Amino acid sequence: MKVIIINGSYRKGGITAAALHMIEADLNEKGVETAFYNLGEISMSHCMGCCTCYRTGHCGIKDDAERISEIIAEADGVILGTPTYASNVSGLMKDLIDRGHSICGLFGAKGSKIWYNYEALIRRRLEVLLFE
Ligand SMILES: Cc1cc2nc3c(=O)[nH]c(=O)nc-3n(C[C@H](O)[C@H](O)[C@H](O)COP(=O)(O)O)c2cc1C
Repeated sequence: MKVIIINGSYRKGGITAAALHMIEADLNEKGVETAFYNLGEISMSHCMGCCTCYRTGHCGIKDDAERISEIIAEADGVILGTPTYASNVSGLMKDLIDRGHSICGLFGAKGSKIWYNYEALIRRRLEVLLFE
């Protein structure tokens, strides 16, 4: 089983990354293979609204965002971690979601079970990170 973990914060050493690395360690202990991506480190254009994804099922811009979408589509699960910016996801995470529109059904289908399993763990561990 392979799970893709994505940090939507520019801050590689930030709280989002710390929470995601804790989940990654937990998954690895359980024998689950993981791949970790920091969106601040990849090359990703904004969605241009060309609607190629609607027509072909793939984004027309061939950069790292499209590569990650393809990796997510092949994986068994995906965990998206993002800081809250103005009561929303970060700009980086929004770009990935827009750019991965052709696989956005998978974000829900593949992510929801993992979120369900990890919600309590994330809550507990975020409390440790925030109040330690
Ligand atoms: C531009 C900006 C907007 C933010 N907006 C919110 C917000 O609306 N609500 C909130 O609870 N925190 C907000 N925050 C705080 C971040 O979500 C918080 O610091 C987060 O833990 C940062 O994650 P990181 O350490 O992984 O970068 C904002 C921070 C920034 C920089």
